[in-house]
Amino acid sequence: MDTPFAVVIPLLFSPLVWSGYLEYDQNVLVPRDWTRVGRLRPTEELELTFALKQQNIDVLEETLKVVSDPDSPQYGKYLQLEEVASLVHPSDPSQKVVRSWLQNHGVTNCLTVHTQDFLQCTLTAEVAEVLLPGSRFQRYVRDGRSIVRSSAPYSVPDDIAQHLDFVGGLHRFPPRGHKPGLASSKSKGIQRSDDAVHFGVTPAVLRTRYNLTAADVGSARNNSQAVAQFLEQYYSPADLAEFMRFYGGSFQHLSKVDRVVGTQGTEKPGVEASLDVEYIMSTGANIPTWLFTNPGRHESQEPFLQWAVLLSNMSDLPWVHTISYGDDEDSLSTAYMRRINTEFMKAGVRGLSLLFASGDSGAGCWHVSKEQNSFRPSFPASSPYVTTVGGTSFKNPFTVTYEVTDYISGGGFSNVFKMPDYQASAVAGYLNSVAATLPPKSYFNVSGRAYPDIAALSDNYWVVVSRVPVPWVSGTSASTPVVGGMFSLINDKRLMKGLPVLGFLNPRLYKLKGQALFDVTEGCHLACLDELVQGQGFCAAPSWDPVTGWGTPNYPALLAALIAS
Ligand SMILES: *[C@@H]1O[C@H](CO)[C@@H](O)[C@H](O)[C@H]1NC(C)=O
Ligand SMILES: *[C@@H]1O[C@H](CO)[C@@H](O)[C@H](O)[C@H]1NC(C)=O
Ligand SMILES: *[C@@H]1O[C@H](CO)[C@@H](O)[C@H](O)[C@H]1NC(C)=O
Ligand SMILES: *[C@@H]1O[C@H](CO)[C@@H](O)[C@H](O)[C@H]1NC(C)=O
Repeated sequence: MDTPFAVVIPLLFSPLVWSGYLEYDQNVLVPRDWTRVGRLRPTEELELTFALKQQNIDVLEETLKVVSDPDSPQYGKYLQLEEVASLVHPSDPSQKVVRSWLQNHGVTNCLTVHTQDFLQCTLTAEVAEVLLPGSRFQRYVRDGRSIVRSSAPYSVPDDIAQHLDFVGGLHRFPPRGHKPGLASSKSKGIQRSDDAVHFGVTPAVLRTRYNLTAADVGSARNNSQAVAQFLEQYYSPADLAEFMRFYGGSFQHLSKVDRVVGTQGTEKPGVEASLDVEYIMSTGANIPTWLFTNPGRHESQEPFLQWAVLLSNMSDLPWVHTISYGDDEDSLSTAYMRRINTEFMKAGVRGLSLLFASGDSGAGCWHVSKEQNSFRPSFPASSPYVTTVGGTSFKNPFTVTYEVTDYISGGGFSNVFKMPDYQASAVAGYLNSVAATLPPKSYFNVSGRAYPDIAALSDNYWVVVSRVPVPWVSGTSASTPVVGGMFSLINDKRLMKGLPVLGFLNPRLYKLKGQALFDVTEGCHLACLDELVQGQGFCAAPSWDPVTGWGTPNYPALLAALIAS
């Protein structure tokens, strides 16, 4: 019963039996790199997050459409957090039922958020296991870090189920993140030890390629941008300062993070933590930057969920957020993904732009059964309400040439979210133009949200870690802050003109039909190594494609296209 890899939810049960299982399709397999230490003692404390059912989600979605459609008279008329709260807050009956259920179990130590749709409660393992029948709280360790999760699916009483979307803190192990590959170029035949190869992507190279001049830096009052990271590693202020000393000579910049939200650990700094901050502050130069990092208050918390909860509790937030977090869609429950998607809508109606890395596994590969493979979409990359950023390489890695597909660039079609209207004709155009060479239809879901939306270089970056410049850092967690920084600069110019910020980018981005972007038309990304597709997913093509989206930003042209109204 309690083996670390056990307990797959038996899907054969009738839906009736499972009605109290909010996340009936949640995969509760323990990832192999986590080891179970043992069951929690009854008196040990947990922190659980109750996601209460919201109201007016249809109105929220419609509002997001009009405030982000440049052809709508409502364009840019964003909502304040209080207005979002009065729209979506759970009904009084929902709040009463959930609260009295908790109180009846002696759970009174709860915090809420401005929008009232999350409750974070501290309770003992003993109480939690009674409250949520089925749950069994265990401690797991990986690399010296421990977390608490339930080894079995939880349920809630039927009369409570209708008032909740899910309960956080039981499942979903922290993913490894999009690990920046340190040796990806080796596999392309470039030797790290080759003395001739000192070239790689630096802020100067990016600014040259994307046509940013020394004058393209931020200056608006109260513009700001943020990176969010949920890895067990920390950014180092000294590394950022050193990075800017090495690479920031040609443009005005800031060398310090403005605000860290969350706990900064004392462990040694990590490559990815350094990467995000160093590069958003190089394209979004001179713009105050916030860092959202592991809250790490309790072993039972889910860092990404904590970030989503925080957004609903802060009225004053940076306009652009770049996030390197992703997980396979098939490992997450539909209820969780739908609710998080609603959280993205709540951010979008406030004028926030959320950019997610598309992932580093190309189309991915999911062994659905012994006989069947399919591609493996990643969430939140697959959410229709975020902007997803893929990756490219220079055609010739040693000079600033045009860009081709970086074979790791995540892309594909969601199995959960329908294709949004804003991209329907772009995707149809792609599917028609490459119809003869598409992978078999059984590998992907043509009716799903297709991603990425845009791309940037993701290969061979220089990063400063522990005071030392490190070469060959790669991944879409590099391209995402680079693109985010550029949108942040455009917001800056818009704020200077008294225009609203860009908010949710996709409706306007797709209306450009590739104008102001460098179209990426060469190369394919990786996928299943099986006989049918032989390691190849989708291929880039003229106009939009599910490998590099619309292409990479030509900054002055993009600014020109997005600065009028
Ligand atoms: C949300 O912010 C309020 C203060 O504005 C605070 O009292 C409350 O505890 C916060 N909620 C959470 C979940 O942190
Ligand atoms: C931007 O860069 C491209 C390619 O590097 C170049 O062809 C173009 O002339 C540059 N300038 C503008 C304003 O687009
Ligand atoms: C905007 O400016 C105010 C006052 O200087 C500051 O408190 C606030 O944090 C700023 N907001 C952002 C998102 O940077
Ligand atoms: C394909 O995507 C749609 C949503 O667009 C979903 O309803 C359907 O279940 C998906 N099919 C599969 C086989 O996952």
